[in-house]
Amino acid sequence: MEPAQPSQKQKGQRPAPEGRLTSWDVLIFVAATFGAIVFPAALAGGDRLVKHIGWYDAFLTILFIADLVVRLRRHDDLQGARRWVILGADVVAALPLQVLPGMSALSVVRLLKLARVAYTMDRWRHQHLPQWNTLRLVYFIYWLGLSVHWLTLGWLSIRTAPPAPDGWTEYIRALYWCVSTLTTIGYSGTVAVTNAEILYSIVVMIFGVATYGYVIANAANILVNIDPARAGYFEHMEKLSSFMNYRGIPSELQRRVRDYHAYVWEHRLGYDEGQILGGLPPSLLNEVSMYLKRDVIQHVPFFASVSDELLSEIALAMHPAVYMPGDVIIRKGDVGRAIYFISRGEVEVIGDDGKTIAVLGKGEAVGEMALVLNKPRGATVRAIGFCDLYTLDKSSFDDILSRYPQFAEHFRALTKQRRKQNTVLNRLS
Ligand code: CMP
Repeated sequence: MEPAQPSQKQKGQRPAPEGRLTSWDVLIFVAATFGAIVFPAALAGGDRLVKHIGWYDAFLTILFIADLVVRLRRHDDLQGARRWVILGADVVAALPLQVLPGMSALSVVRLLKLARVAYTMDRWRHQHLPQWNTLRLVYFIYWLGLSVHWLTLGWLSIRTAPPAPDGWTEYIRALYWCVSTLTTIGYSGTVAVTNAEILYSIVVMIFGVATYGYVIANAANILVNIDPARAGYFEHMEKLSSFMNYRGIPSELQRRVRDYHAYVWEHRLGYDEGQILGGLPPSLLNEVSMYLKRDVIQHVPFFASVSDELLSEIALAMHPAVYMPGDVIIRKGDVGRAIYFISRGEVEVIGDDGKTIAVLGKGEAVGEMALVLNKPRGATVRAIGFCDLYTLDKSSFDDILSRYPQFAEHFRALTKQRRKQNTVLNRLS
């Protein structure tokens, strides 16, 4: 079955590949954040706290109306109810309420634009999944900062203490009270006197404790998830070590097991390619598979001359395998079940007299003779150091051999050349 193709955009619809953030999105993000800071401040502190609010309001109204037009023309990936909720918030946030007399207080509805901010954050998150934990922290600080600002303004509106000489001093004192109450330190020197002040203090304290709880609960999670592969590796190694100790496995064998895992971790980051590739659509699977196997694909001279079709078949059928120093990869006389391509490291081919007849390295193939000739393995092959190989099993090899004459020719020629070499060597010894 053909994989589903992404739908073509209709003619005339505006740019932005789905999910990609544009500088316009960033501008709206900044403008909405600015609005979320100044409008509540103007409401709570008036002219003493924010001057020229009328100008800001006019500017943001124009910007938000322009944004509305852009959103309606742009085909974004928002779907269903969420799309209408965010678009609805966009519409209300763009209403030019300041032209109506006595409605200036309603300019706080511009805060609804924060729905768009939350959506932009969501898209950012999807684009930067590897940095998700850092972003999570940044988002948390962003929302906490805004909340502290609003709580400070709330206190400014209800507090009964004598006013400070200027708006900024008042704001800073209120912020001091807010932070010391939120953090439950409570040394701001300001005492809640009226009922409204006491109730408000209780709300702020509860908010502070909840935030504190959230931070503690998530800190450990964030730390673990900053590098899940590393965390998983160490957890696995700990389990493995205690298992090997418990079962009394000799220390030399334990060391080799640990060395193997350390090598796999270092070179493959402990990920199983099969797991990563599983579930991808065929076209993507091809590309990722070719990329992962590029080391071997680029270094096998024969692969440079084959068609893309054959190359992708080979790449898809090859599976990684790691061998440790001294490991026997092929044993003379065994039935040939696979051919191997060397991606990293070296192997030695050992002749009948126990002497090395060839050393093969990166980009070379080994184990093709038994498959081509349909005979048992003709020699023993051993890993010299750590070796990263890609194996192609006999059925895939035979299948490709029968369909691609170029592939068959190459391996028949290689077999012929190696047999000849061995005959000469046998004659000499
Ligand atoms: P096979 O016989 O399946 O298993 C042993 C492998 O060693 C053999 O395939 C070849 O791939 C490889 N081999 C045998 N002789 C030589 C040689 N002279 N040079 C390089 N490789 C060889």
